[in-house]
Amino acid sequence: MRPLIVVGNWKMNGSLTTNQAWLSTVVTGLQKGMPAGRRFAVCVPFPYLSQCMNALSASPLLLGAQDVSAHVSGAYTGEVSANMLRDLGASYVIVGHSERRMHHFETNDAVALKAACALDEGIIPIICVGETADERNSGRAVDVVRGQVNAIVGQLQDRLVDSLIAYEPVWAIGTGKVASAPIAQEMHRAIRLQLAEFDEEVASHVGILYGGSIKPENATELFAMPDIDGGLVGGASLDAKEFLEICRA
Ligand code: 13P
Repeated sequence: MRPLIVVGNWKMNGSLTTNQAWLSTVVTGLQKGMPAGRRFAVCVPFPYLSQCMNALSASPLLLGAQDVSAHVSGAYTGEVSANMLRDLGASYVIVGHSERRMHHFETNDAVALKAACALDEGIIPIICVGETADERNSGRAVDVVRGQVNAIVGQLQDRLVDSLIAYEPVWAIGTGKVASAPIAQEMHRAIRLQLAEFDEEVASHVGILYGGSIKPENATELFAMPDIDGGLVGGASLDAKEFLEICRA
């Protein structure tokens, strides 16, 4: 049985002051009780990892980052290694988010290398895939996502069993246009079948999260789908109360 996992992605938002208020509301909310068998995490900007590590040390909310270097150490100005993330208490790291593929030209190969670096440090990579509106409108959604999954499987092989995949249709991110539960389920199913072609055991173990305009109002229906194992929440994770409602959904 795969656990339900809810992960917040703050993206490039936050400040020491607003984070403090968020952290105390969410930690208190989680302590009041959540449905059993769930996992919760929040992926924050690098400069706030230390603040969050201290605030979350005795809480069930795990910490994550939003990117990691594809290199282990050395002359890579501006990069942050998986080892550094582990030092700062990260259990998860998002890799290959569509915003990084788009604005920072990340390729499937780079995404796979980043995921491998995270796994080497015992950090769970949340590997993002998803089609654009044009790709969906031209009937290529499944093919595009299968291609992204194949590229990752080809590099990571059975190490993928320790990773999470996030299906985030680009047209649903930050647009308010959430994928309907049947469409999301169809895509998650396609991803799982693609993984099963490689290894059925891996396919049945890997959690596949949905991301894109998740709100408290749509989370319950999405999370009820058999191949949706939780969510990667952007905008709604910035509001502590909304994030808690989604954790409860
Ligand atoms: P929104 O929830 O704001 O659509 O963002 C989704 C996302 O990109 C999470 O990684």
